[in-house]
Amino acid sequence: MDASRGGLGRDGGRLAWRLGIYSRRVRVGMLTGGGDCPGLNAVIRAIVRKGERVYGDELIGFLDAWDGVRDRRTMPLNVETMRGSLPKGGTMLGTRRGSPFDTPTGVEEVGKTIADLGLDALVVIGGNGSLSIASRLFAEVGLPIVGVPKTIDNDIVGTDVTFGFNTAVQIATDAIDRLHTTAESHDRVMVVEVMGRHSGWIATYAGIAGGASVVLIPEIPFDIQEVCDRIVRRHDRGRYASIVVVAEGAESKPGTLELTDKVYDKFGHVRLGGVADVIAREIGERTGFETRVVMLGHVQRGGTPTAFDRVLSTRFGVAAIDLVHQSGWGQMVVARGSEIVPAPLELTVGQTRSVDVSLYRDVAEVFFA
Ligand code: F6P
Repeated sequence: MDASRGGLGRDGGRLAWRLGIYSRRVRVGMLTGGGDCPGLNAVIRAIVRKGERVYGDELIGFLDAWDGVRDRRTMPLNVETMRGSLPKGGTMLGTRRGSPFDTPTGVEEVGKTIADLGLDALVVIGGNGSLSIASRLFAEVGLPIVGVPKTIDNDIVGTDVTFGFNTAVQIATDAIDRLHTTAESHDRVMVVEVMGRHSGWIATYAGIAGGASVVLIPEIPFDIQEVCDRIVRRHDRGRYASIVVVAEGAESKPGTLELTDKVYDKFGHVRLGGVADVIAREIGERTGFETRVVMLGHVQRGGTPTAFDRVLSTRFGVAAIDLVHQSGWGQMVVARGSEIVPAPLELTVGQTRSVDVSLYRDVAEVFFA
């Protein structure tokens, strides 16, 4: 995807400003919700930069997602406070899971905070969970909300890509590249577990980029015996090392292999991790090949965003503040082809974007053992 173009239309905000269409200065609050993701600071920076310098806005950050909205914990955001933030991973605002809909007074508190702080808009930078909350706050209470989709999982419906995904894939690919040499030296099978609770985007991309022998994703339940047969065939051809990439949410075909019990956190999010242990044990026992497990875990979410993600985040941030000035409430900014355009927040409610099965079947599978 061409990540080099501007926000909503070429220099649309500046032109509109000159024409006086969106000339009112506004007070904008923003928060980051859900799991962190490389590129969040770049989005905040872009909103602040264009908001302050082009529109003359006042920008405020809520700390720790909806908790900060409820407790009114804020920090002023301006071009000065954002200096040096572009390459930094994580989020300078902090993030939490949880929803104002979880408590009887939560929604009312959000509305009151927005009113009492005199905010004209709230920008919610989050994944499926946070954007679904934003959608409900707009639909049910009429709050002036604009969304920015983020997740390393790349599983948000409505956008071709989310920032953080490219960085996570690069980290996973670098790890797989390193694992090849040690696997080859020892004639081992390496089972690499990557993130992806509902979708196997990271596994599929990193598997293709890293030359994996097998990729297991939530969208296509696997048969452990077929996986073992593939690896045995590969060994029969004289390839004694194999890389198996597993998305943490991978599922086995019913009745083929018992996977670990799912553990849920206090927000009802399933806490995954560990499926690779079961798969590696089975591969070892069924094939007799020495097998090791590598869990990449939160390494995939940490650290500096790639250049691609910095550009995409910057474009999303610029487009988000433009959308605020167009009163685009109930919408989020999304990537479609080479454009950044608005799309309804409600697209995210109860939905996840699955891996393009043809990418898996027609491309990734060609290189399987
Ligand atoms: O949703 C993004 C994600 O990184 C998933 O891939 C992963 O399952 C989850 O977050 C981990 O969440 P936590 O940091 O709360 O353990």
